[in-house]
Amino acid sequence: MSTSKVWSGRFSEPVDALVKRYTASVSFDQRLAEFDIQGSLGHANMLAAQNIIGKDDLAAIQRGMAEILQEIRSGKFEWLLDLEDVHLNIEKRLTDKVGDAGKRLHTARSRNDQVATDIRLWLRAAVDEVVVLIHKLQLSILDLAEQHADTVMPGFTHLQVAQPITFGHHLMAYFEMLKRDAGRMTDCRKRINMLPLGAAALAGSGYPVNREMVAKELGFDGVCENSLDAVSDRDFAIEFTAAAALVMTHLSRFSEELILWMSPRFGFIDIADRYCTGSSIMPQKKNPDVPELVRGKTGRVNGHLVALLTLMKGQPLAYNKDNQEDKEPLFDTVDTLMDTLTIYADMLRGITVNNDAMRRAVLEGYATATDLADYLVKKGLPFRDAHEAVALAVRHAEIKGCGLEDLSLAELQKFSALVTDDVHNVLTVEGSLASRKHIGGTAPEQVKKAIAKARKTLS
Ligand code: ARG
Repeated sequence: MSTSKVWSGRFSEPVDALVKRYTASVSFDQRLAEFDIQGSLGHANMLAAQNIIGKDDLAAIQRGMAEILQEIRSGKFEWLLDLEDVHLNIEKRLTDKVGDAGKRLHTARSRNDQVATDIRLWLRAAVDEVVVLIHKLQLSILDLAEQHADTVMPGFTHLQVAQPITFGHHLMAYFEMLKRDAGRMTDCRKRINMLPLGAAALAGSGYPVNREMVAKELGFDGVCENSLDAVSDRDFAIEFTAAAALVMTHLSRFSEELILWMSPRFGFIDIADRYCTGSSIMPQKKNPDVPELVRGKTGRVNGHLVALLTLMKGQPLAYNKDNQEDKEPLFDTVDTLMDTLTIYADMLRGITVNNDAMRRAVLEGYATATDLADYLVKKGLPFRDAHEAVALAVRHAEIKGCGLEDLSLAELQKFSALVTDDVHNVLTVEGSLASRKHIGGTAPEQVKKAIAKARKTLS
């Protein structure tokens, strides 16, 4: 089988061996193969419907492609570097199988609109899978949050104990982030799902093509409305990668928390052994490798986003070979994201919580100081004065080495005469939590409502 380049006619010497490898994409773009075939079949149908090729050509192309698909799926297809990319490899094989009909397939088409179509088909399918995986992770979060709707933990600002919250409430913050992430995915899908075919190399086609027909057959929502834009922009891939970087960033923050909470200094949680590893030198170690890697791989996905933006920024219209470099970052983003989401959903099911350690941290942190200030405000003291009085009470308790709730009524009254014998109700953690019962608040009853509402959005 001759593998000379389809474009070699105008060249006087063969391409340098290193240049061949440097310019080829088949080692990675073969991943688009099934979508390339799908796109070609859509194109061929239209060519036949418009009488640009004969019905017998279409039948031959369909037969050849069905065989090629089998060869690819069974791993028997031989990918050749000499044939540069996935498109030329498949087209050559088709021509070997069905002769001239195979050579007619590329009528009214260029690899420029072909590759843009393939990536969009591939990414559309990936987005649909990502959305399902995000939902599975959200479900895991809901299940854990439900078990811990009443579990007290310190809420932090500046990583200092701030106010009591419930662990369920804390987890639901991540549910919200992922809800927006899923929304971003479905939103960018709309812009992915537009058909470039028909744009040909850059200027459109002189044949009587029917782009709407191809769009419909391939499940696109419409056609790209400018041929130059259709073949050259990869903003849809950049947008997807930005959305992926945000998912990863959210999970990186979550991971940072899991890592801290698992440290004996916090001792809030334990992560199942199957998500941790030991140390080769320190026998006592159990390391949270998975969350650490999620945090690390976030850097990798953020890097892909910057790579794609940089790839695009200097390109004049229309297609340039630079765009061949879009695939590896995009593929790796999808792989990293899917693995991360899958692992995370299961890892959360392997988390055990040390309720006592969480409660102890709340009690040691003067977490109900704001509640005491609010109590004084309700009795008529301006908030700034209440803040000052409570700050002095905290300092007093700190010197004494006890909590605010351990101070007697008489001691508390030294800081404000407005304190009466109902004060200890607001100093308890449960009282503090229960008072924050509006939408978005941490009261256990409200957290349970939020979980129930969230569950409905997933079903
Ligand atoms: N392998 C190329 C890519 O990924 C396909 C398009 C090549 N087009 C061209 N005119 N060289 O972008």
